[in-house]
Amino acid sequence: TAEPGEIRAIIEAERHREGPLLPILHALQSRFGHIPEAALPLIADALRLTKAEVHGVVSFYHDFREAPAGRLTLKLCRAEACQATGANALAASVLDRFGLDWHGTTPDGAVTVEPVYCLGLCACGPAAMVGERLIGRADAARIDAALAEAGA
Ligand code: FES
Repeated sequence: TAEPGEIRAIIEAERHREGPLLPILHALQSRFGHIPEAALPLIADALRLTKAEVHGVVSFYHDFREAPAGRLTLKLCRAEACQATGANALAASVLDRFGLDWHGTTPDGAVTVEPVYCLGLCACGPAAMVGERLIGRADAARIDAALAEAGA
């Protein structure tokens, strides 16, 4: 868990840069894997911003997570070649089944679903990735099998 003292030290290390907000957020994310809620008021204080302004930046950049990621990441390709082979419908059905939006994590903390823009499997889309494992011609059954195998 994120200790306020540690959060403060990270903010302190970056705050004197020009344009310190993004470096602070990157440093927090790389330390904690997400931007801890407790960091928002501390950053706001340090940079003389409102908490809403800090939150706005965190939610604008999808690189920043507002909650810890799941144990496994399921990436679904959304780039053009995969779209032509039904990636949108696959993504819609996967997200719907998990009850998630992009970047969301299942309530048990098992799986986070992320969009990705080309996995190099364009010739056999739709492409997906479960953990480190690539899946071509992905469909719900193959994704489920890979998740089960990975222990999700
Ligand atoms: Fe999906 Fe390249 S477009 S893998």
